[in-house]
Amino acid sequence: MIMKNFLLVAAVLAVSAQVYAADPTAGKEKAKACAACHGENGVSQVPDFPKLAGQYNDYLARTLNDYKSGARKNAIMAGQVANLKQEDIADLAAFYSIQKALATKY
Ligand code: HEC
Repeated sequence: MIMKNFLLVAAVLAVSAQVYAADPTAGKEKAKACAACHGENGVSQVPDFPKLAGQYNDYLARTLNDYKSGARKNAIMAGQVANLKQEDIADLAAFYSIQKALATKY
C-alpha cells in the first residue's frame, strides 16, 4: 500500500513537472495577428507601437499576462490578449525574443 501511494505521488510529480516547451515557429504564425501594429518581426515602423524584437522572453510573457489580468491597462492590448492561452503567450514571447533588435544609435 505504501509503495502504491509512493508510485502515485511520483506519477503526479512527473506530470506536474512537465513544462510547456515554447515554440517560436508556432509563435511566428500567431504573431501575424500582431504584425499590423508591431511589425512583421516585431520591429514596429510606428512610434505609437512598441518594438518587441529582441525583448526579453520573460518580460514579454509577463507583460502579456499583465494585460490579460488588467494589472497593466491598455484598451488596445487588452483586446489583443483576451483570447490568448498560456501556450500562445509562451510561443509569442519565444518568437519575439529571438528576433534581431535594432541597435540604438547614439
Ligand atoms: C491594434 C494595434 C496592436 C495590435 C494588433 C497588437 N498590439 Fe501590442 N501594443 C499596441 C500598443 C498601442 C501598445 C502600447 C500599450 C501600452 O502603452 O501599454 C502595445 C504593447 C505591447 C506590448 C508591451 C511592450 C512593452 O515594451 O512593454 C507587448 C508585449 C505587445 N504589445 C504584444 C502584442 C502581441 C503579442 C500582439 C498580438 C497577439 C499584439 N501586441 C497586438 C498595439 C497593438
